[in-house]
Amino acid sequence: MEKVAMMINARKLFKDISDLPTIPAIVSKVVSLLDNRDADPDEIADLILSDQVLAARVIRVVNSPLYRVTTPISSVKRALLFLGFKSVREMILTSYFVYGFRYKEQPFDMKMFWMHSFYVGAISRRIARQIEYSDVEKAYLVGIIHDLGKVFLGHYCKDEYGRMLDSIRNSSITTYDAEYDFFGTTHCEVGLCLAKRWHFPAEYCDVILNHHTSEAGTEDLLLTAIVALADFFCLSHATADCVAQASIPGQSEENAWEVLKLFASGSIPDSLEHFLTNLNEEYDIITEEVDLLFNTMTAD
Ligand SMILES: [Fe+2]
Ligand SMILES: [Fe+2]
Repeated sequence: MEKVAMMINARKLFKDISDLPTIPAIVSKVVSLLDNRDADPDEIADLILSDQVLAARVIRVVNSPLYRVTTPISSVKRALLFLGFKSVREMILTSYFVYGFRYKEQPFDMKMFWMHSFYVGAISRRIARQIEYSDVEKAYLVGIIHDLGKVFLGHYCKDEYGRMLDSIRNSSITTYDAEYDFFGTTHCEVGLCLAKRWHFPAEYCDVILNHHTSEAGTEDLLLTAIVALADFFCLSHATADCVAQASIPGQSEENAWEVLKLFASGSIPDSLEHFLTNLNEEYDIITEEVDLLFNTMTAD
């Protein structure tokens, strides 16, 4: 597949769209302040508090099962100090993305889509912990949004995407290949355009673009490998987003496994097969977590 042509085709799809979900101006301001390590926590906390929806979201997410705080955190400033600026920034971007696309009409079952996304987030976090990756929450959040291009294609190219899904139902053709055939691009390139529009961090953009082609990753190779393997695990365990997917590891998964072996600090099993089997044993616990997290992130 020709990557440059795929990127050009993705950009063309964006050209005439005027009603993309956006981040409210005040949230953009908070996000850019959080970019600056030396920003004043009081100033950021005041700004967050001037938007009650944002303040409530920060408090709800910091007290959610994602962070496992021992005593509930009720002040925005404490949430900032507890999580650190970068984590709050990523958490805000992710929650606004989930919220922004919550009610967008789609040719597929959105509940299934979000469950897949949250499973990939939860499994990514599990893998990140196991290999002692440096930023477990980042793995979790980028896991949730890895397929964001699908909600764009599903909503803004609804009829054609619906026809595409019908054409591969009960077949072994992946959505990735079918998207390429129908649109000359895939949810990965489209997702990158969206992520850039939303100013997601560069490592997020790389995961979104390369979770099906991990060998092409350019930023945080380990992060991309974690999400690629989590996605593969979920697709082969029936948490796919309503269409058939390949269940045999391909070049991307083999590459991700090699990266994991090379960079992992914690101990990992001797083969990809054993690695996936071990994840399987934790599946029921993860299912409970996913329900809790889904409710936290999608609440008003
Ligand atoms: Fe994907
Ligand atoms: Fe996925």
